[in-house]
Amino acid sequence: MSTTTLSLSKSPITGIEYAIPASSDDKAGIDAFIALHPGKKVVVVQGLGFVGSVMGLVVANALTEEYAVIGIDLPTPASYWKIRSINEGVFPVLASDPKIGLYYEEARRKKNYYATFDSYVYSKADVVVVDINLDVQKKSAKNRDLEGYDVNLTPFRKAIEAIGTHCKEDVLVLVETTVPPGTAQKIVRPLLEESLAKRGLATDKIKVGHSYERVMPGPKYIDSIQNFYRVFAGTDEKSAEAVETFLRTVIRTDEYPLTRLGNTNATEMAKVLENSYRAMNIAFMVEWSRFAEEAGVDIYEVVNAIRMRPTHKNIMLPGLGVGGYCLTKDPLLASWARMNLFGSEEKLGQSEKGVHINDKMPVYAFEFLRDQYTGSLAGKKILLLGVSYLNDVGDTRYTPVEGFYDHLLEEGCEVTLHDPHVKYWEEKDLWINQDLESLLKEDYDVVVVTTGHKDYRGNAALLEKISSKPAAWVYDTIGVLTNDEIKSLGEKHVVKVLGRGDL
Ligand SMILES: NC(=O)c1ccc[n+]([C@@H]2O[C@H](COP(=O)([O-])OP(=O)(O)OC[C@H]3O[C@@H](n4cnc5c(N)ncnc54)[C@H](O)[C@@H]3O)[C@@H](O)[C@H]2O)c1
Repeated sequence: MSTTTLSLSKSPITGIEYAIPASSDDKAGIDAFIALHPGKKVVVVQGLGFVGSVMGLVVANALTEEYAVIGIDLPTPASYWKIRSINEGVFPVLASDPKIGLYYEEARRKKNYYATFDSYVYSKADVVVVDINLDVQKKSAKNRDLEGYDVNLTPFRKAIEAIGTHCKEDVLVLVETTVPPGTAQKIVRPLLEESLAKRGLATDKIKVGHSYERVMPGPKYIDSIQNFYRVFAGTDEKSAEAVETFLRTVIRTDEYPLTRLGNTNATEMAKVLENSYRAMNIAFMVEWSRFAEEAGVDIYEVVNAIRMRPTHKNIMLPGLGVGGYCLTKDPLLASWARMNLFGSEEKLGQSEKGVHINDKMPVYAFEFLRDQYTGSLAGKKILLLGVSYLNDVGDTRYTPVEGFYDHLLEEGCEVTLHDPHVKYWEEKDLWINQDLESLLKEDYDVVVVTTGHKDYRGNAALLEKISSKPAAWVYDTIGVLTNDEIKSLGEKHVVKVLGRGDL
């Protein structure tokens, strides 16, 4: 294999930089791995990101069958390190779930989880699980002009074509990627059949299904795949049966029965509707938060009172904004599909609007501070507590903290960042100081709670440290401070909470 260096891929976990090989040939590595597992079915997981790498781990620790699992990702600066990490003993996802470490150790012991970048692997697969990304391109993540977006299916199509170019004619291709409704039936199956026909193979033996992930990165990462309800469908009867048989070997379906839907359009719609519902619920609360601020009402108190009613338990709380890879795009995938795959002239207007409202939340949070702050923010020292988009998780993708942070920088602020779960903020190429003690030795003009991590909730030592500095502001964008904490901090500081009037 040639090892001419094209570029480097840096692990955000260890900081190690790997040279990306010029050749995409890993045939010897794949063959050697398969030779270790004679007679076992080969499951290839395409995409080793937050979902695929952990799905691979779950399949490597399947309940009723021993599989040889091979993950494949791209030899790019953003992803090549994941391949090397899996093979070299460092799992590429940081998570508070202890099962991740246990499952990874077990897979290492059994030597049944290998990672590669060579498409030759598809020729060995009995099952291919598609867990790659399918992105929505938005006009701007930062400015107010957020109404325009596009869905470019080219990378997804290429990924499916790579499978079709090499796969066996009777392989099961299980799409788990969140896709525009219609994709498995109208795009994946025809592309695979076309590739098989070009290779002179039968086109009626292939099985194509869809079953979406409900994975929740965090303390229950593995359980959210293995011990959770799943919805699935096939593009035909044979495919649906094959998906069901496979899922029964990896998911605890005795306790969490599978739900089969009529066709893959329905499962694909179920996924994006599930996430659109949640995104809309948050967007709905945004205008009520503004109303509460104007009316001198505490929106958190109001929501908690409403949540006592069993029918209203999942009403959302306001916050800095909506982040993560899913809620920020899935309603747009659905709306795009309605017009582009099903020929409707109408978009899903409410769902699109919900995403746009949510995208503007960080801008509002910044303006709230700027408008209330006495004097200019330029040159002020500001500490942000949290860069992850979600409590107790180290995931910075589309974090609303980014828009807020960018506006502070534009305003000329000197910003310091802390997050107990994020060592390296990939999108910003920034290493994050995780030592809160040392950070709090400095004086700040404003301390902002930007993520609701456990470390910031009810943390008396943190509040004590902040309290010891005179004349600072404390700005809680998440609602982590209790009434008592607000009162005690308020003796020395100006305290502001997003969604609370009259403080
Ligand atoms: N992250 C979540 O919490 C979550 C939850 C439920 C569903 N999902 C969905 O699961 C899918 C994957 O999400 P993710 O968070 O793992 O994304 P991710 O960006 O972390 O990972 C995707 C991986 O796929 C790789 N990839 C892209 N094209 C490829 C190709 N042609 N061949 C091989 N690898 C390729 C990328 O390099 C990347 O490593 C998305 O559709 C997402 O919407 C995500």
